[in-house]
Amino acid sequence: MKKILITGSAGFIGMHISKYLSEKDKVLGIDNINSYYDKSLKVARINNLKKNKNFTFVKCDLNQKKKLENLIKKFKPDIVLNLAAQAGVRYSIKNPDAYIKSNILGFQNLIELCGKYKVKNFLYASSSSVYGLNNNKLNQEVDETDQPLSLYAATKKSNENIAHVYSYIYGIKTTGLRFFTVYGPWGRPDMALFKFVQNIIKNKKITVFNGGKMKRSFTYIDDVTLSLKKIIFKKNNPNKKLHDVLNIGGDKSVRLDRFILEIERNLKTRAKKKFLPVQIGDVKNTCADTTKLKNYIGYQPKTPINIGIKKFVSWYKNFYRVN
Ligand SMILES: NC(=O)c1ccc[n+]([C@@H]2O[C@H](COP(=O)([O-])OP(=O)(O)OC[C@H]3O[C@@H](n4cnc5c(N)ncnc54)[C@H](O)[C@@H]3O)[C@@H](O)[C@H]2O)c1
Repeated sequence: MKKILITGSAGFIGMHISKYLSEKDKVLGIDNINSYYDKSLKVARINNLKKNKNFTFVKCDLNQKKKLENLIKKFKPDIVLNLAAQAGVRYSIKNPDAYIKSNILGFQNLIELCGKYKVKNFLYASSSSVYGLNNNKLNQEVDETDQPLSLYAATKKSNENIAHVYSYIYGIKTTGLRFFTVYGPWGRPDMALFKFVQNIIKNKKITVFNGGKMKRSFTYIDDVTLSLKKIIFKKNNPNKKLHDVLNIGGDKSVRLDRFILEIERNLKTRAKKKFLPVQIGDVKNTCADTTKLKNYIGYQPKTPINIGIKKFVSWYKNFYRVN
């Protein structure tokens, strides 16, 4: 039985992977339960996780140095999965400080402790947003990532650089997980799918940017969870680089208007739309090349949006008691 520390476990991806891993392994979840979005959703996720006796939760911020150090010292994790971060591209224009605090200072505090307490395997959330201005049709890990369009993307790219340093100095195996627009049950209220479903149900307008022409490699949460499990437990390959990055993205890049059509079909309602230009910081298209992931773990995300959206809508109606 492995001991796994998961940060951001009250978050969307953190909850799903904590649930999955605590079926067989011992998971310590931490989160500061901040108010970036509805705290009660985060509390509900944690209550759901606490049903499993292999899961323990401690409220802790990545910047609470002493508390975090004591937790790591006591728990002695074999693996650390850092998902805690200030997420969201648009919010980084309004509140840049939150990104520096959690994604830079908090990240460095955690990885420093991993070096000190000799954690062998450190994985962390990066993002497809690191591809920034890069206009390549297909986003490959070897592409340039030095033209970020938002402070959020810049902090994620910095994480990759910092992780490289800690691999080099301390010999820790580090893996940056470049997630592409993850969606599914228990999803984030600040993301498009959640907002669209919520507004359509409440008969409110949805805001569509860039005429719905933007494309995303939407990635269903169960595919992410399975990919993470396979990456975490992959046997060490002596030829593999100590620090590496992997795209974790859906196998098709889908236009936003097509995504909206699928939501409308599920809710059997036409959305009222308000059109706005592309927002500062937003990348126009993302398209994940998952060849590297597939070669590494023999698997790539593949759930089609019609199935993923159906599962989200069903969760949403059940959770918020919509008839
Ligand atoms: N969901 C996506 O589509 C997506 C895409 C790319 C990257 N990511 C990254 O994946 C990770 C998880 O994303 P998510 O969608 O689950 O987001 P989320 O906001 O639901 O989860 C992040 C959690 O981290 C916690 N947190 C934030 N700052 C913290 C701090 N300083 N100390 C302790 N806890 C803190 C928050 O309370 C939250 O519960 C994030 O790093 C995010 O940037 C997500």
